[in-house]
Amino acid sequence: MRVIVCCLFIIANISNNGKASLESFAPSGANILFEDNTKNLGQVSCYRPCKFNVKPKRCYYTFKIEPTIQADDRPAITINGKTPGPPIQACVNDIIIVEVENRILDQDISIHWHGIEQKGTPFMDGVPMVTQCPIGYGQTFKYAFVATSPGTFFYHADSVYHQSDGVYGPLIINQPQPLEPHSSIYDYDRSKENTLIIAAKMPELLTAKLEDVSKLKPDELIINGDGDISKFFVMAGFAYRLRLINAIAIECPVVLNIDNHEMIVIASDGKPTKPVLARNVELYPGERMDVVVRATQESGGYWVRARGNGACAGVTANAMLIYSGFNYTSMLQENQNDLEDPHHANWESDLVVGGQMLESLQDQSHATDVKSVYLGIDRNVIKVKDDEIDFRYISDAIPKKPYFPAPLALKENGVVQINHKNFLYPNVPIMVKPKEVRADMFCNVGEEDKQVEIQCLQVLDAVEGDVLEIALVNEGFGSNDSYTFHMHGYSMQVIATWQNPKDKPISKEDFHTLNKNGKILRNLQNPPFKDTITVPNKGYTIVRIKIDRGGSWLLECRSCALSSLPAAILIRVPQAIPKSVVDSLPKCGSYRPPDVLLN
Ligand SMILES: *[C@@H]1O[C@H](CO)[C@@H](O)[C@H](O)[C@H]1NC(C)=O
Ligand SMILES: *[C@@H]1O[C@H](CO)[C@@H](O)[C@H](O)[C@H]1NC(C)=O
Repeated sequence: MRVIVCCLFIIANISNNGKASLESFAPSGANILFEDNTKNLGQVSCYRPCKFNVKPKRCYYTFKIEPTIQADDRPAITINGKTPGPPIQACVNDIIIVEVENRILDQDISIHWHGIEQKGTPFMDGVPMVTQCPIGYGQTFKYAFVATSPGTFFYHADSVYHQSDGVYGPLIINQPQPLEPHSSIYDYDRSKENTLIIAAKMPELLTAKLEDVSKLKPDELIINGDGDISKFFVMAGFAYRLRLINAIAIECPVVLNIDNHEMIVIASDGKPTKPVLARNVELYPGERMDVVVRATQESGGYWVRARGNGACAGVTANAMLIYSGFNYTSMLQENQNDLEDPHHANWESDLVVGGQMLESLQDQSHATDVKSVYLGIDRNVIKVKDDEIDFRYISDAIPKKPYFPAPLALKENGVVQINHKNFLYPNVPIMVKPKEVRADMFCNVGEEDKQVEIQCLQVLDAVEGDVLEIALVNEGFGSNDSYTFHMHGYSMQVIATWQNPKDKPISKEDFHTLNKNGKILRNLQNPPFKDTITVPNKGYTIVRIKIDRGGSWLLECRSCALSSLPAAILIRVPQAIPKSVVDSLPKCGSYRPPDVLLN
């Protein structure tokens, strides 16, 4: 669908203190009148059964983001005092408005709405220096976007450090039940009660740390925050849709199962899939999965077990599936670390279903004319002094602020790179002010060797109608890690994933030889649509993206960023942003409230 941004209109109201507010907000061409009766009520829940032919709502939230001491005396970065932050639950076509206030001293933030397409609002994607100026300490930024597609999403701070410290929360878009393709196989879809958002608790706060934190290991996994153990109540005989979210920011795949209960996977990254029966499901950081669980067992309480892998190897979390009427007090007394379950033991060896193995619900007829792009990903030791590296974004604000903190000890550990470069954030938000980006920052994907700097603004230019076939090859000369990538604004079709069974690295030449000899099997019939993918070590994942909307969209390694330089490319599709919008968006560093000036 082509989005006509010229028709998007925003009446901007810049008040004296420089805060921009988007007073009126309308998606392209949609003839919707917004009643704004929610604004004075503060937080307004839009959670309700979604119906046909009713006016969409405006769902208004305020997020105050600040450091808080948690119940266990550990500090976290919280949203309104809590982590995870408020669940955003809305219906398709609702307008979601979130006013974000940054109260983290000396830190810039922005919030990314993970999986949201931002149709008509590409400048609301929440990537600093790509779609917006970062939100400085004391500043407020108002996000507004339309919930265009149903599914399980989440939001998080763009910075891996802030996300790891607690800035994340669920974002679920519901639709009228008859439109849900799998509604016949479950009885209840209560996204408010039946969502599990999984995070990893680090031993110390990462925010503002300038030392090397790459060796830090999470202490534990947590499900729905750190309070009481999460409980999911079911009635015998009925089937429930559960929404699983891996909200971890580092390379921690999580395997989840439920004692004595099978799951039916029905969606991945918000998109429906062919149903698959599973005893174990695996989610990489940023992935979501919807599963159906039927309460077919004897009335009782059953453990939901989440087990970390990768950087979270050895850490776990549990939740409880409780049949109504069952007194679960005794269950709480079981030693959590010593939970023996005879069925469970057998099940662990069963197949683990991951998002990339699934098939999309509808078969595709596929484009033959694709633009092929090779991304060689590996950890490389780079020959520079740490202090010569610009690991920050350069904003027109002074002074420059650390954003991806401290690539210390890069020399020993190396950094994860794409085509031997690290991503350089532009000097101005490129989507809003493309002409002001310094020309010497750029390098085109595939021609990176023309740029001498280690970091450059890696751009892949595309136009509407293009089908990009991107081979992400985790070459594996410099590391044994898998990497998780997230595509902003788009779903990708995952047409191939492979890991070299011989455990040997793959070079670009090896990949091209495999491809030329027809050794790469592509699923062009029903590849799953995903916005978050894993690229196995000494292996590859090949995706196709059908470009149908303008914008500047990151394809980024989310899990590479701990004490490293950014690994990402920017897919740039021409998009004019109306001057009224540009003028309404806050300027970088232009606004400092009085209490900041006094500091
Ligand atoms: C549940 O069981 C505990 C002991 O295991 C008991 O103390 C408690 O009263 C029970 N609660 C109910 C509601 O029966
Ligand atoms: C990767 O694994 C191999 C085999 O286990 C080992 O020899 C090698 O040192 C590892 N490489 C890195 C970078 O850890």
